[in-house]
Amino acid sequence: MKIFKNKHTLQKEILKTKGTSFVPTMGGLHKGHISLIKQAKKSKFKTLVSIFVNPKQFNKKSDFRSYPRNTKRDIKLLKRLKIDYLYIPRFKDIYGFRPKNKIFLDKFSKKLCGKFRKGHFEGVLNVVNRFIDIIKPRYIFLGKKDYQQLFLIKKHIEKRKIKSKIIECNTIREINGIACSSRNSRLDKNQMKIASNIYHYLRKLKKKIKKDYSFFNISKIKKDLIDLGASKIDYLENYNIKNFKLIKKRSKQFNLFIAYYIKNIRLIDNI
Ligand code: PAF
Repeated sequence: MKIFKNKHTLQKEILKTKGTSFVPTMGGLHKGHISLIKQAKKSKFKTLVSIFVNPKQFNKKSDFRSYPRNTKRDIKLLKRLKIDYLYIPRFKDIYGFRPKNKIFLDKFSKKLCGKFRKGHFEGVLNVVNRFIDIIKPRYIFLGKKDYQQLFLIKKHIEKRKIKSKIIECNTIREINGIACSSRNSRLDKNQMKIASNIYHYLRKLKKKIKKDYSFFNISKIKKDLIDLGASKIDYLENYNIKNFKLIKKRSKQFNLFIAYYIKNIRLIDNI
């Protein structure tokens, strides 16, 4: 595994290969990332992972500061996985140039997390657009846990006619049902249990509303979630994940999207 901190040396190396399968991360690697990397390794291209905690996608400084970081552990893990390249840029390496494409922000960027985390998706697209400019990856592997992010990146790529292809990868869950996330490392045992109970509650709820939409009684559900131990709910909405239309009546194809807090830890999922 070769480690790069500078985009010019990275480009010198990768632009002479046939292309790369790229897995962008903010570190704090977990089973979800490992699954993305294993899928990337199955492609015929070299595997490139980036670790960059992007300050522009955090709407609160305190959230950026407390974001879980463990680069030493991450490097060890990536070596074991035998990836080809690791890119760990500094801020200037990413933000010190003007990328070829302007970012395209689909209107869905104002919904769900976009409504509650102002500027978040603009920050995500900004950094991903810059990575694409530097790396020109053949494939980009993204997890469905962050489905809204995945959708918006796809829209940007489509609109700007970028040649990279997005590979959508399934959400990986712990045995207790919680979707793997770097933020889970901040949960204590009791908080894990709360998150797990909430997941199982939502699974049951989804089954019920598939049969009878009147079970989607938002004030009752919010109360139940608070009783289960959530501190606050940002949103709980059903969307058709093909076209991102809001679901308002019984439907076969939808995902239940949620963002909620346990104390000050914000968790998202879609089920
Ligand atoms: O999903 C993430 O970890 C980040 O949003 C990404 C795609 C690496 C951009 O910073």
